[in-house]
Amino acid sequence: MDWGKANRMSKVIKPDGKCFYLAMDHGYFQGPTTRLEHVGNAAVPLLEFVDALFVTRGVLRPQIPPATNTPIILRVSGGTSMGGGDLSHEGVTTSIDEILRLNVSAVGISVFVGSDYEHDSILNLADLVNECEPYGVPVMAVTAVGREMEKREARYLAMACRICAEMGASVVKTYYCDNFEKVAQGCPVPVVIAGGPKTDNDLEVLEFVWKGMQGGAIGVNLGRNIWQNDQPRAMARALRSIIHEGSTPQEAFEIYNTFEH
Ligand code: 5RP
Repeated sequence: MDWGKANRMSKVIKPDGKCFYLAMDHGYFQGPTTRLEHVGNAAVPLLEFVDALFVTRGVLRPQIPPATNTPIILRVSGGTSMGGGDLSHEGVTTSIDEILRLNVSAVGISVFVGSDYEHDSILNLADLVNECEPYGVPVMAVTAVGREMEKREARYLAMACRICAEMGASVVKTYYCDNFEKVAQGCPVPVVIAGGPKTDNDLEVLEFVWKGMQGGAIGVNLGRNIWQNDQPRAMARALRSIIHEGSTPQEAFEIYNTFEH
C-alpha cells in the first residue's frame, strides 16, 4: 500500500485495529432528521469520543470547523429520497477533485445488493474504487437495505459484504445480526456495524456493539443510537469504552449512567 493510502487508513483505523465512526449522513436522503437538524451542533460535542465523522460535503463545508482534528469520511452517493420511489437508485454524487479538495480520510458509498438497481449500485462502487485508488483514498462500502429491514440477516449480509469487498472496498459497513461471525468471516476486509433506528433500551445498543465486535467487527459506524439518545455524550463515551477499552456491556452501561457532563 502506498504511503498516502496507508496514512489515510491510519486515520480511520486506530493503532489497536479498532474504529468508532459517528454517522451523521442521514440527511442526504431523509432531510432534517430528528436531532440532526443542524449537524454541526450535534456533532461538535461528540467529536472528542469518536475516530471519524461520516457526513456529506454539503454539511461539512458550512457546519464542521475546518480546524477539526477528527478525520472525515465523506458520503459520496445519493440521488434518492424518502419522498421518492426506490431508494436503491443511487449514483455517485461527488467527484474525485472534490474528495481531494476536502482532504478527507475516506469516502462512503451505499451498495444495494439484491435490489432492482443492484447492477448499477455495484458498478458505482467499482467505479468509485477505480477513481479513488490512484489517489490513495479508501472507500467504505455501506451495505444498504433501503426500506427492506428484514434483509438484515446473516446470509444476505454475508453476501452483500463479500461482494463489496470483492469490488475493492477497503472497509465494509453492515448491520449486526444473529450469526454475525458468518458475515465477518466471509469478508476479506474489515467490517464495521451500523445501528439502525433508535432502540428503546440503551443497554441493548451496548450489547449489540459488544456482540458485533466479539463476532469480528472492528468497530462501528453508528448514528441514531447516539445522537437521538437524550445523553449523546454519555452514550458516545460508553461506546468508546467498548470499542477501544475492552469494556463489557455492563461496564459500559455503568460509564453511561455515571457520566458527568
Ligand atoms: C445512512 C447510513 C448511516 O451512516 C448508517 O446507517 C449508520 O447510521 P445508523 O446507526 O443511524 O443506522 O448509511 O444511510
